Amino acid sequence: MSYPQHRPRRLRRTEAIRSLVRETTLTPASLVYPMFVCPGTGIQNEIPSLPGIYQQSVDRALEECRAVEQEGIGGVILFGIPESKDERGSRAWAADAPVQRMVEAVRRANLRLVVITDVCLCEYTTHGHCGVVVNGEVDNDATLELLAEVALSHARAGADWVAPSDMMDGRVGAIRQQLDEHGFSHVGILAYAAKYCSAFYQPFREAADSAPQFGDRRGYQMDPANAREALREVALDIEEGADVVMVKPALPYLDVIRAVRDAFAVPVAAYNVSGEYAMVKAAVAQGWLDEQRAVLELLTAIRRAGADFILTYHARQAARWLRSC
Ligand code: PBG
Repeated sequence: MSYPQHRPRRLRRTEAIRSLVRETTLTPASLVYPMFVCPGTGIQNEIPSLPGIYQQSVDRALEECRAVEQEGIGGVILFGIPESKDERGSRAWAADAPVQRMVEAVRRANLRLVVITDVCLCEYTTHGHCGVVVNGEVDNDATLELLAEVALSHARAGADWVAPSDMMDGRVGAIRQQLDEHGFSHVGILAYAAKYCSAFYQPFREAADSAPQFGDRRGYQMDPANAREALREVALDIEEGADVVMVKPALPYLDVIRAVRDAFAVPVAAYNVSGEYAMVKAAVAQGWLDEQRAVLELLTAIRRAGADFILTYHARQAARWLRSC
């Protein structure tokens, strides 16, 4: 018998063969595009640390949503930049604030996109924390009522899913109850269930003007050293009524995505966050990486780890590349 006996390379000879045996697929429909909506009209300001991503007024953001739909992308997640901030973040649940108006606009335009809203207070509070601050600490239970108000205002505007990203204990249950009591039992909850206290949110905080003005978020976001704790967080969110659970960030936490995928039967999302996008963009700008190859490899890896869909700033570019491949 000639050596070697086993030849795995036989399945790599042509693209047609590779396609037949490929284990993981990546499609535009499994991507969600994050957008930042600001007050005013005709506004489109590029975010310096997120090249190609903009703070946009509702009119411009709606135009981009039409393109996003054309590209076959599954949905959008909306973040708001309010006209003013206060201690409690009251613009977060205002019916006439940018996110609420944007949701209404997308609904009126009848776009075939899943409309997801981020539910948090950090963009809306003067101190930049994700909840109400009492004696220098974020008060969990006082924050729950406000988050439930925010989620309700998004549901009233027409959101398909609300996505709490604050990491308060019990917020999924509080939101579920509020939605159900007001006739929004059909609105889903995408829980940022395992959200780590990560350095990779820094460009987002520039984009959303949401950096904490004192201290940090270690008192509520998860310790990057912990994986078992992620399973506990996910279990609690599912028990409280989460329809989809999310791991965030994605690339430093592929092991957590896999563990969650294996342990639970609900859909799993992963957030390929701002700092992960910025790293790729910076290397590409230096000529050190080929952007298309790098991005499609990274997104495929997140899917292979077990994510059903991915929130990514690369959604539009990736969708175009996937269609031309
Ligand atoms: C709000 C929120 C953050 C992100 C999503 N929702 C920032 C944070 O927790 O400070 C980060 C997303 C990204 O970096 O792309 N709490």
